[in-house]
Formats: sequence, C-alpha cells, structure tokens
Amino acid sequence: MSGEKPTEAPKCAINSERLWSSIMGMAALGGLPGGGCDRQALTDTDRAARDLFVEWARAAGCAIKIDQFGNIFAIRPGARPEAPAVLLGSHLDTQPHGGRFDGIYGVMAGLEVVRAMNDAQILTESPIAVVNWTNEEGVRFAPGLTGSKGFAGILPPSAIADMRSRDGARFTDELERIGYRGDMSSSTLPVAAYLEAHIEQGPVLERAGTPIGVVTGVQGVRWFQLTVEGADRHAGTTSMDVRRDSFMATARIILELRNAALQLSGDVRFTAGRVNVMPGSTNTVPGKTVVEIDLRHPDEIVLDRMEVLIAPTAARIALEERCIARVERTMDVRPVHFDSRIVDSIAAAAAGRNERFTRLASGAMHDASSIAQIAPSAMVFVPCRDGISHAEEEWAEPEHLAIGCAVLADAACNLARVVP
Ligand code: GLV
Ligand code: MN
Ligand code: MN
Repeated sequence: MSGEKPTEAPKCAINSERLWSSIMGMAALGGLPGGGCDRQALTDTDRAARDLFVEWARAAGCAIKIDQFGNIFAIRPGARPEAPAVLLGSHLDTQPHGGRFDGIYGVMAGLEVVRAMNDAQILTESPIAVVNWTNEEGVRFAPGLTGSKGFAGILPPSAIADMRSRDGARFTDELERIGYRGDMSSSTLPVAAYLEAHIEQGPVLERAGTPIGVVTGVQGVRWFQLTVEGADRHAGTTSMDVRRDSFMATARIILELRNAALQLSGDVRFTAGRVNVMPGSTNTVPGKTVVEIDLRHPDEIVLDRMEVLIAPTAARIALEERCIARVERTMDVRPVHFDSRIVDSIAAAAAGRNERFTRLASGAMHDASSIAQIAPSAMVFVPCRDGISHAEEEWAEPEHLAIGCAVLADAACNLARVVP
C-alpha cells in the first residue's frame, strides 16, 4: 500500500469519457453477440483496429512508424527529439472469445495520455510513443508476444517472418496483405522506459478494494506441443483392447500431468486449451491428437521440475495405450522482475493522485516481459470484475480505467520530464 513520497502535482487531466468511447469504438471491430471481441492477429478486423488507431493517433498529432513485425508506433515529439522515448502501450489483438479491455486498454490509455497532454499543451523533453504490439495473444499465430519479442531481439526476424497460422498463412504475407509490414528499424527508436497499462485479469485488486495495481513482475510461461500418434480404425469393429486411440492416451496424459503439477506447487497454472483430434470423425478411432499445453509459475525451478516430467509421463502412458508420444517446447517466457525505479515511479504517481494501490505480480503474460529485456519497464493494473478475462464477460469500471490512465500519464510525464 501507499507510503511512497507523492510525485509532483498531476500535470494533465484525463478525459474519462473520451477514453471510454475509444475503448468502446475499438470493441465494435470484431464485436461478438455476448459483448466480447474476436479480433485475432493479422485478420481483417485486426487491420480495421490498426487503421482506427493510426487515424486517431494522426489526429492527435503523432507521427506513425511501423516496423517489420507490424508493431505500430505513434510518436509525439519531445523537445529533445533525439532523446530515448518513453513508450506506452499494449496490444489490440484478442482471444477468440476475448473481452473489450485486455490489451486494448493499454493502447487506448497511451493514446489518451497523448490527447490529454495536447489539451494541457504539455511539452516533454523525451518523445512519448504509443505502441500497438503485434500478436500478443498467440492465438492465430503461436507463440504469442510476437511483435514485442521481435522488437526486443528475443526472436530472430526470420523465425517471425516464417511463422504459420493455423490455416497455413505465413506471418509476413499476412502482414503485407493487411498493409502493416513496415521498415522502421528498432534501433531508430531507443526506449528510455516502457509503461503498460492493463486490466489485472485476476481477482487481487477487486478483493483488496484498491483501484490501482503496481505490478512488480510477471510469472514465467512455457508452452508445449504434445503429439500422440496411434492408428485410425473403425469405431464399431475395433475391439477396445487393440485400439491405438491417440485421444484416450492424450486424455490420460493430461490428467496425470495436471495432478503432478498440482503436487509440485499449489500456485501452478496448467491448461490444455487447444486439442486437435484427427481425423475428427465420430465413427473413427482417432489416430493422431495434438494438444497445446500452457504452464505457468512465478518460480523457474518449479517450471523446470514440471518440464522434466512431461516427456516421460507422456511416453509411459502412450506406450500403455499402444501409441507414441512426442513433446516440443514452443514458448518460454522467463519470470520477470520489473525495474524498481519504474515500479516506484508508478507507485509515486498513484500516491500523488491520493489513490490506494496494491503491489502485485502478474499472472497473465504481457509484452512488458519482452521489453523489460531491453529497457526499464513496469505495468499499472486496474481491477476487472470478478477477475474474469479471456472471456466475453470481461468488464472494467470506467472510473478505474480513468484512474489507471491518470497514473500512467503522471508516471509518463515524470519519466519524460515536462519542460517548464
Ligand atoms: C495473454 O493474455 C496470456 O496471459 O496468455
Ligand atoms: Mn493482454
Ligand atoms: Mn490476453
């Protein structure tokens, strides 16, 4: 909770209605009947969201730059144009049954900071840049955090260019198709600090009754692809004892891994969210099953202990079911501890607005994990209803969104240094 020395007086007033209507304007693109959004990366709806962001950012006086990963940077010049930028942002892509706020809030809050600085005629020494990172969610193209990993040099450009979507499309071809393959080099935008505003996506702030989360870090995430191969056979004539049923083997493997993970730590998160059972016919014993596993924990040692269990467990159960299993790690995002100076500047900004806050680590992954590898970074969270996210019901109160945005603005002004 608070106790930090307050920052200087707030420097610009956030327009809460403008922020809300921008978020709702984005939500209309790929909107679902249940109130959520389906706006997966590099689709036509992603293009529409990008076009709208670019239109709004240009109207706010920003210069637009796009890099080879399709990341969009809207740059508000500073008094010292060559100074490293204070970067604010998040992502506009969503889950298939995504909400209206996950990611979108961080980009729209960054834009609102620029608009509010314009209203208050604030000049900063460092430029302020608002970024939309490409494919944070990793749904259509896996793994996620693609754009921020490319920008931070964590993934080589060629590996990103050749990523394939579920329907076989190539990443770079899709970027080209939607008109967002740029040529800005990362080195032309040095970053002094990165701040990402986001809904919490969990229950901590709501339970604590605090409108602001000062995020100290992000837990580690690993993705694995488990492939189990048996044999396609007739469902009516093949007796149970000779079947090589890849899905039954997979189901047993997943249950056993889930139990093993829980024995290692009560804080573990184990999810098998995508399963492809082939050939996908009711009356054929499935000969091949591919399942994607998402494993999370704040402690890398727990992730290591779990990882070494996966292949032997899968091999043993597959053999019992007359199948063969293989496992591949497809993503590794190490646990991140944010830079204490940037974390403290967010705490000071909250204290400066007399807002109560809670320090917490993020359960969800974020582009800030990538950018923290190249620049001091931190995040500001606001509560979301019942801690629900990656679901159409996702909801955040306009008042909380505005407070989070005001804290973001003050921290950004502080780090970019307002010219008196
Ligand atoms: C991204 O939203 C994640 O945490 O998976
Ligand atoms: Mn997000
Ligand atoms: Mn998400």
